[in-house]
Amino acid sequence: MHRARDRDRGWSCLPPCAQKMTRLLLGVTLERICKAVLLLCLLHFVIIMILYFDVYAQHLDFFSRFNARNTSRVHPFSNSSRPNSTAPSYGPAGAEPPSPSAKPNTNRSVTEKPLQPCQEMPSGLVGRLLIEFSSPMSMERVQRENPDVSLGGKYTPPDCLPRQKVAILIPFRHREHHLKYWLHYLHPILRRQKVAYGIYIINQYGEDTFNRAKLLNVGFLEALKDDEEYDCFIFSDVDLIPMDDRNLYRCYEQPRHFAVGMDKFGFRLPYAGYFGGVSGLSKSQFLKINGFPNEYWGWGGEDDDIFNRISLNGMKVSRPDIRIGRYRMIKHERDKHNEPNPQRFTKIQNTKMTMKRDGISSLQYRLVEVSRQPMYTNITVEIGRPPPRLARG
Ligand SMILES: *[C@@H]1O[C@H](CO)[C@@H](O)[C@H](O)[C@H]1NC(C)=O
Ligand SMILES: *[C@@H]1O[C@H](CO)[C@@H](O)[C@H](O)[C@H]1NC(C)=O
Ligand SMILES: *[C@@H]1O[C@H](CO)[C@@H](O)[C@H](O)[C@H]1NC(C)=O
Ligand SMILES: *[C@@H]1O[C@H](CO)[C@@H](O)[C@H](O)[C@H]1NC(C)=O
Ligand SMILES: *[C@@H]1O[C@H](CO)[C@@H](O)[C@H](O)[C@H]1NC(C)=O
Repeated sequence: MHRARDRDRGWSCLPPCAQKMTRLLLGVTLERICKAVLLLCLLHFVIIMILYFDVYAQHLDFFSRFNARNTSRVHPFSNSSRPNSTAPSYGPAGAEPPSPSAKPNTNRSVTEKPLQPCQEMPSGLVGRLLIEFSSPMSMERVQRENPDVSLGGKYTPPDCLPRQKVAILIPFRHREHHLKYWLHYLHPILRRQKVAYGIYIINQYGEDTFNRAKLLNVGFLEALKDDEEYDCFIFSDVDLIPMDDRNLYRCYEQPRHFAVGMDKFGFRLPYAGYFGGVSGLSKSQFLKINGFPNEYWGWGGEDDDIFNRISLNGMKVSRPDIRIGRYRMIKHERDKHNEPNPQRFTKIQNTKMTMKRDGISSLQYRLVEVSRQPMYTNITVEIGRPPPRLARG
C-alpha cells in the first residue's frame, strides 16, 4: 500500500525521497525476514511437540499397554464369541451366509480351540514389586483377591498352555501369619508368570525338632500322589517374598536357586555355594540326587548338603540375575525347636557317602492329615525326632 502510494506520486523524487524509499524497502525486507523467522519458530515448535509426545508416550509405556490390551482382548473375544460361532454348527446351518464367509469362521474356531504354549517371558509381568508387611492381612482378603484360584491353592492359566506343572512346597509349622502374606503376594505373581501350580504347606506335626529337608521330601511324594503330572518342584520358605516377578518360578535345565539376594544378606549371595531360601528342581533332577537328606534336624546345613548332592551328580546350580533375584524376608524371632544344628558342619563333609542311602529312597513318615483350603493344601505329617545318639555329640 505504502509502496503503491509512493509510486503514484511518481518517480520525480528528490534525494530525501529516495532515502525514504530505501528505508521503506528495508522495512519490507525486515518484515519478510521476521515472518520467515516466525514460521521457522512455529515449525520448530511443532517438531519439538511431536518429539516430546513421542518420548512421553514411550515413558508411559504406551506400547506395552497396547500389547497388554491386545492379549487381554483375546479373552472376552473368545469368551463371548465361542457360543455364537459354535451355535450355527449345531443349529440352523442354512441361517449362515454363503460359504465364503463361513470358511474363515470355521478356521477361526479351529485356531481358537488349541491354546498356544505360554510365552517364555509372559507379557503381563510388571518387574520390580513393592513388598511390605505392615498392612494387616487376612485369609479372607487373600481369597477375595484371588477368586480364580481353585480349592487346594491350584491354578492353571486360562489363555495359554503352561509348559510345566509346578508344585510349590513350603515346610511349615506355626507360621500362619507369614503364610497369609506369602499367599497374598505369591498367588498374583504366579498368575502373571503363567504358571500351572499347586501350593502345598508341609506342616510338621508335634513339637519335636524341625526338619526342613525331610518335610520337603514328604512334600515331593505327597504332591505327586495328589497330581502325578507335577514335573517341577519349588521349595520355598514361608517368609520369603520375591521382589521382582521376572524371577520366574519354574524349573530349568539345571537345578535353580531363586533366592539370590535377600534383604537380610544385603541383597547379595552370602557365599557361592548357597542354596537356601527358595530353590527348584525338576522331577528328574530331584530323583537324580535321591531327594534331600532326612537327617538334618534343627536349623541349617541341609541346603549345603543339597548343593553338594547337585554338584556330586554333575549338575550346576543356575540362578537369576542378582538384580532380579531379590527377596524380602518377613522378620521374626527364631522358631522354637529349630535351634541351629551343631552337627551341620561335619555332616556336610559326608554328603558323598550319605546321599545314596539317605534321601527320598529311605524316607519314612506318617501322614496325619491332608486338608484342602481355598488358597493352599495343608499336609500334616509326623516325621519323627532326631535319634538319641545326637544327644551325645
Ligand atoms: C497383538 O496382536 C497382533 C496381531 O493380532 C499380534 O501379532 C501380536 O503378537 C499381539 N501382541 C501380543 C503381545 O500378543
Ligand atoms: C468370560 O470369562 C470371564 C472369566 O473367565 C467371566 O467372568 C465372564 O462371565 C465370561 N463372559 C462371558 C460372556 O461368558
Ligand atoms: C452372541 O450371543 C449373545 C448371547 O447368546 C447374543 O446376545 C449376541 O447378540 C450374539 N452376537 C452375535 C454377533 O450373534
Ligand atoms: C486356516 O488357518 C490355518 C492356520 O492358521 C492356515 O494355514 C490356513 O491357510 C487357513 N485357511 C483358510 C481357508 O483361511
Ligand atoms: C494344618 O492342619 C493341621 C492339622 O489339622 C492344623 O493343626 C493346622 O493348623 C493347619 N495349618 C494351616 C496353616 O492350615
